[in-house]
Amino acid sequence: MRTQQHIGIFDSGVGGTSIWREIVQLLPNESTRYLADSKNAPYGDKSPQDIIKLSIKNTEELLSLGAKIIVVACNTATTNAIEHLRATYNVPFIGIEPAIKPAALASESGAIGILATRGTLSSKLFASTSGKFTEHLKVVEVVGEGLVPIIESGDLSSTTLRNLLWDYTKPMIAANIDHLVLGCSHYPYLIPILKEILPPNIKIIDSGQAVARQTKSILIKHNLIDQEASHNVRHLLYSNRDIITLKELLQDFNAPMEFNVRDF
Ligand code: SIN
Repeated sequence: MRTQQHIGIFDSGVGGTSIWREIVQLLPNESTRYLADSKNAPYGDKSPQDIIKLSIKNTEELLSLGAKIIVVACNTATTNAIEHLRATYNVPFIGIEPAIKPAALASESGAIGILATRGTLSSKLFASTSGKFTEHLKVVEVVGEGLVPIIESGDLSSTTLRNLLWDYTKPMIAANIDHLVLGCSHYPYLIPILKEILPPNIKIIDSGQAVARQTKSILIKHNLIDQEASHNVRHLLYSNRDIITLKELLQDFNAPMEFNVRDF
């Protein structure tokens, strides 16, 4: 019997639960351990060296908890640290990158918007992915300054949040985008507000389902898929700050979840 049993997932905070939900739905026989590094959120304004250090800390914690695969459910950590993690540890890593390719291929107006953190937009990995697919497009990149701390606080009805989203999407609407790519795992929690603000022709694209499908295919490839019945499945979600926002964001989700504060 394997000693490494779970899908380990980490994010700079609560936002990666948008990815975690898709994984749990697609892989109902798998148990998970989720780390919300809310104490160190946001990662988006930190240096690449600091993001790598935090990603190592989270990886080692997940490995000590029994992770057989690790999902880096944070765009900023993926774009800055995943190459280092893959070169250092002997488990498969799944990363999350802004879904630029599907947006670029589907765009009819010839313009797309990308909302992401400064750390993601300024990374080398982002530049090379974006460059590959957007040569013939107008791309409006906007840094979502201040969004992650508000989502971490759980105040999704905040007026400041709504005003920030008005400001950030204004240049995109003016450029006639037809797809908005959410390049941060926290941002899917903003979709209800974005739908109110954006003209109805603009499609909002996030990476959650694609990451879940990729996780499944890598588990199959490495013969790590759990074949046993789902009655033993447990999802433990840890925060190193408090579990209030985690619990609030997942109150609509039906799965055997336990929430704990943990020092990591
Ligand atoms: C952040 O911590 O700044 C955002 C996380 C992400 O990029 O997904």
